[in-house]
Amino acid sequence: MIRILAALLLFTTSAFAQDYPTKPIVIVVPAAAGGPTDTLTRVVAAQMSEFLKQQMLVENAGGAGGTIGVTKAAKARADGYTLLLYHIGMATAPALYRKLQYDTLNDFDYIGQIADVPMTLIAKKTTAATNFKDFLAYAKSNKDKLTYANAGIGSASFLCGLLFMSAIDTEFTMVPYKGTGPAMNDLVGGQVDFMCDQTTNTVPQIKSGNVKVYAVTTPARLAALPDVPTLDEQGLKGFDLVVWNGLYAPKGTPKPAIDKLVAALQSAVQAPAFRARLAELGAEPVPVSKATPQSLGALLKSEVDKWGPVIRKRGIYAD
Ligand code: MLT
Repeated sequence: MIRILAALLLFTTSAFAQDYPTKPIVIVVPAAAGGPTDTLTRVVAAQMSEFLKQQMLVENAGGAGGTIGVTKAAKARADGYTLLLYHIGMATAPALYRKLQYDTLNDFDYIGQIADVPMTLIAKKTTAATNFKDFLAYAKSNKDKLTYANAGIGSASFLCGLLFMSAIDTEFTMVPYKGTGPAMNDLVGGQVDFMCDQTTNTVPQIKSGNVKVYAVTTPARLAALPDVPTLDEQGLKGFDLVVWNGLYAPKGTPKPAIDKLVAALQSAVQAPAFRARLAELGAEPVPVSKATPQSLGALLKSEVDKWGPVIRKRGIYAD
């Protein structure tokens, strides 16, 4: 009897492995459409679906700094047809939210890292300042009036704001959105004053003159924005923030599915079209060695350990 069951299990698993995926795969994005994470997801999904010969659909579930979408993915069926693409916010949420409905380090299977996305400090185009020094003086003397747009507590734009405000020892009014896609619309429209956001969302707006840019958050300047100085070279010594991104599946997703998704992700990060598109947007695809479950798992753990003390020291909680 056991032999029959073992044979049956082997048959079904190998059949699954052979056939997967047999229907479209949904990628949950914990942010509004049109923003940086949505943009990255659509670019990588297009590449992966070529490899998998199956559609990959994006489902936006923004809000609460991304925790609404991450919760949705954590509770989804672990059958290989629901995935999650999210960023550094996975690592900051455990410290910011005391009542998270998922366990960041135990509720997901890892597929791999995807790309690292620098951030830029931008402001509405009517802002008079033409360089960072003048912007800083203006911001400090108008701190009670200026509004800082972001995607809510736990988002990358929130984290950048937190670090920037600590670095200049000045607080601004935070205006939360379901993502920096809608926040960008209001910044371009002049309804909010400034924001720190990922290049995958800001480069097109900077290049078309819809926003002013004052700095990048990386230690070195970006090839996509060679004339934009770093915060470090403008006096915020050691300022270094890059948004890493990972692909996850609910815990217990069949291994054959994970293996195929890892292979698809690895083919995507090497694809010339993917690399060219990310370069245009100032982002850096990871090397294949990082498009692995082990690499993402290790990174997430080390980032949870890194950001926890930083956030607890600020004593900020979302709930
Ligand atoms: C988005 O796609 O809206 C962003 O990732 C939001 C953020 O985390 O700042």
